[in-house]
Amino acid sequence: MKRLFIKTYGCQMNVYDSERMADVLRPLGYVSTDRPDDADLVVLNTCHIREKATEKTYAELGRIKALQRAKAGDGRGGMTVAVAGCVAQAEGAEIMARAPVVDLVVGPQSYHQLPELIAQAEQAGASRPRGERLLAEFAPEAKFDRLEGATRRRSGYSAFLTVQEGCDKFCTFCVVPYTRGAEWSRPAGDIIREATGLAQQGVREVTLLGQNVNAYLNNGWTLARLIRTLAAIPGLDRIRYTTSHPRDMSEDLFAAHAEVQALMPYLHLPVQAGSDRVLKAMNRAHTAESYLRTVERMRAARPDIAISGDFIVGFPGESEADFEATLDLVRAVRHASAYAFKYSPRPGTPAAAMGRQVPEAVKNERLQRLGALLEAQMTEFNLAQVGRTLPVLFDRRGRRPGQIAGKSPYLQSVHLQAPDTLLGQIAPVTITAAASRSLTGVLAQPAELSGELAA
Ligand code: 5AD
Ligand code: SF4
Repeated sequence: MKRLFIKTYGCQMNVYDSERMADVLRPLGYVSTDRPDDADLVVLNTCHIREKATEKTYAELGRIKALQRAKAGDGRGGMTVAVAGCVAQAEGAEIMARAPVVDLVVGPQSYHQLPELIAQAEQAGASRPRGERLLAEFAPEAKFDRLEGATRRRSGYSAFLTVQEGCDKFCTFCVVPYTRGAEWSRPAGDIIREATGLAQQGVREVTLLGQNVNAYLNNGWTLARLIRTLAAIPGLDRIRYTTSHPRDMSEDLFAAHAEVQALMPYLHLPVQAGSDRVLKAMNRAHTAESYLRTVERMRAARPDIAISGDFIVGFPGESEADFEATLDLVRAVRHASAYAFKYSPRPGTPAAAMGRQVPEAVKNERLQRLGALLEAQMTEFNLAQVGRTLPVLFDRRGRRPGQIAGKSPYLQSVHLQAPDTLLGQIAPVTITAAASRSLTGVLAQPAELSGELAA
């Protein structure tokens, strides 16, 4: 038995990829551990989206190097170190130069080749030549075809399932089109097979993942058709999807939200900014107005839908008036959840080369103001649930003894006193209290479920 430690940074797609890497390495005798110090193989699955995320990779490599030395020093054997993910893709050569501890670098489309690469690295042992670099040629077909063959093992009740990768939108701030390549959608049959397998292992909820998941299109299959089909799989009671682009919201997706009971009332639909001038400079291909119309149509289809978003403050050229337009849009939308980021110039993206970069102090001040507004909206959304009875999927033990925790349809964490025999089940909970990031409640009867949530 060999020990595998994978550390995952960034988005849910990386979480999915990390699980699949563990799956393809299992036949080689690798068993996952959550301790890096005695791992035989360490994989860092990295994120390149903002500078801070990237810097974490290098900081972690410093710590890994110390662990590797300590392990060898104690006679506990070697430690192979691989860097995967988006930093690997974007900065492979730089990683090899900056961090001699790294044995191999592997981009997101090449994970299916990990077994061969690791086997080679192991065979060569301490004398191996460093420098295996495997970056994507952006042929996701090969990756998914090979990953299909690896048995997917899941222990939880909620799972991620990648259905689409890549991005053709080229927002001027974003590295994703360069690290993940062009938009590509997996064949529906493969997705249905994977979802069926997950349901057979007790998974009750799947989140369909894609950088532009609502652009999913394969052989006439749209995301909405996929959702309707997956909803019919026995045991699969909840379906979610993320992340969507406002440009790709379609009629059939609105309709699915109105009609498919298993489709959860939650939509992560990043808008990034509220000023049309900034949106144009970002190459977003939508306006504040068209975004608000999309939200309205979604609310017409599913009145209780929880809206979530991403925001960037301090994009080059953003004036105080532009920023206030973002605050206005936020007030108009009323979010259930949201993420706000300071603009981070990324090498090779058009915005990094734009003039009128916004000073750090201004970014900080705007982030604080936007953060406070969003926080207040999240609290308000959560408080509005007090007194309602929501179906909760219990997916983990709580922090305190006798507590379990789960997720509401609106993706809120719900904590309550209940026996852990309820884990994996969906049961009604009457909400008794709310904070900005979680709810507490008590078990209720199915007949008490609120309004649109009653089956
Ligand atoms: N700077 C700051 N935030 C960014 N995001 C993407 N690129 C950048 C960047 N260069 C944010 C966007 C996106 C989320 C995943 O990360 O808001 O929706
Ligand atoms: Fe980060 Fe984007 Fe890569 Fe996800 S796809 S890990 S968010 S850079």
